Amino acid sequence: MRKLPFTASRLEAIASAHPTPFHIYDEAAVRANAAAFRDAFSWNPGFREYFAVKATPNPYIVKILSGCGFGCDCSSLAELEIAARCGVVGESIMFTSNDTPAREFVRARELGAVVNLDDITHIDFLEKTCGIPELVCCRYNPGPLKSGNAIIGKPEEAKYGFTREQIFRGYAMLKEKGAKRFGIHTMVASNELDPRYFAETCEILFSLAREIEKRCGIVFSFCNIGGGVGIPYRPGQQPVDLRVLSQGVEAAYARHFSDHPPVSLYMECGRAITGPYGYLVSRVLHIKDTYRKYAGLDACMADLMRPALYGAYHEIVVPAKASQPASEVYDVTGSLCENNDKFAIARPLPRLAPGDLVVICDAGAHGHAMGFNYNGKLRSAELLLRPDGSVIQIRRAETLEDYFSTLDFSGLKPPRLIPRPRPPPRAASSIDGRAALGQFQPPRSPRPVLCRRVFAVATRPSSPSRPASPSCPRALVLHAALLRGSSPSPPAPARRFQH
Ligand SMILES: Cc1ncc(COP(=O)(O)O)c(C=O)c1O
Repeated sequence: MRKLPFTASRLEAIASAHPTPFHIYDEAAVRANAAAFRDAFSWNPGFREYFAVKATPNPYIVKILSGCGFGCDCSSLAELEIAARCGVVGESIMFTSNDTPAREFVRARELGAVVNLDDITHIDFLEKTCGIPELVCCRYNPGPLKSGNAIIGKPEEAKYGFTREQIFRGYAMLKEKGAKRFGIHTMVASNELDPRYFAETCEILFSLAREIEKRCGIVFSFCNIGGGVGIPYRPGQQPVDLRVLSQGVEAAYARHFSDHPPVSLYMECGRAITGPYGYLVSRVLHIKDTYRKYAGLDACMADLMRPALYGAYHEIVVPAKASQPASEVYDVTGSLCENNDKFAIARPLPRLAPGDLVVICDAGAHGHAMGFNYNGKLRSAELLLRPDGSVIQIRRAETLEDYFSTLDFSGLKPPRLIPRPRPPPRAASSIDGRAALGQFQPPRSPRPVLCRRVFAVATRPSSPSRPASPSCPRALVLHAALLRGSSPSPPAPARRFQH
């Protein structure tokens, strides 16, 4: 079973201070892993890992990693801003975007980021938008020359990068337009566990780089082999041996660049940097026993989408029941009105009960980051387990106010208010009595009644002899004013509604 960085009782204590669901990242493990990553490539003096911010776009994580010497790989305006606000600027940012809006290129250039172009047409677009930088990079898609993998798909079906033929033209154009320093990039795998895959990719990329240099008369200062290093999500899978991966890359480097000025090797991994060191912690809300057994959690696919999106496996641990046998088989579900909202299907687990804390492992990359608001679900908090064992919140949970803050109710017309007919004199005091006399009206939904009450109260002329009623708080007055489409003061002329 997976070793967690907290005991069951420590986790209960954390969950009593921070309501579930939440993501929690193990800072000490992230730091140790970052150091191992750097060390594995120390044969290349210019080696740099640009952390793929999209994996875990949290300033604390970015700051920790930049402290470890990592740059930031950004793919959007928001990611550029996160990097900049964490003090990561200039060539410490690799801007690897696609279908890029002009203002994102502008911001990347303002920050001095390395612009990694995704398409040959982006050269003119970049030039017109904000000029060609001195240092520039192009993303190569080898198409049928390289097989992809299940997540990223076949390269020739992937939307990213220049074709082989385009990339020669691309560098020639960039040189002609004034670029002086060049890099080349490719990324053709995602969550790849076989270290040989990366050595093969380097073989293709390095040999292409040399060909481009000869044909275009340029010299590459870096090769970026992207991210895509996998992690062992399933029990029994082995982590990628970074030393083996690095040795394969080094051998390809030696074959192609032994007679070349030093070329810096760049990577932009996300998953392999933070993935195994983040956990989604959730409580069981309900146990349901129908055609299958369901353990319904207070987290849902808005907190971790990978199982629903890719059928991905994430190990689930129940720390307080770690010593109990996995005697039950559950679909572990969330509360979205979407049948894919399952963290696990037919997973053997200890017998669960409402209130149990469950830990979904390997949620540290492409986890919280992929969250969304379908069904009005709110995204969870993120916590950081510090090396000294303390826990701090590094992103608060979304609130209903956050969700509603992007909605506009103010433009809605007031509801049509249809005066109810005056009820006949009461023949009996109880509802039963009225029903018996055929006068019972089923209760109407409470909202219109509330609105009518609000209107009536809010539009009642005030007078010094009748101070504001405690049953008419300011919020209701404001609400009524909102529905009226006017400001709450001065008081609107009185309108009468029956209620
Ligand atoms: C261009 C680019 N770089 C880096 C990454 C990070 O990938 P991973 O987290 O699998 O290492 C991605 C992932 O989508 C990507 O698209």
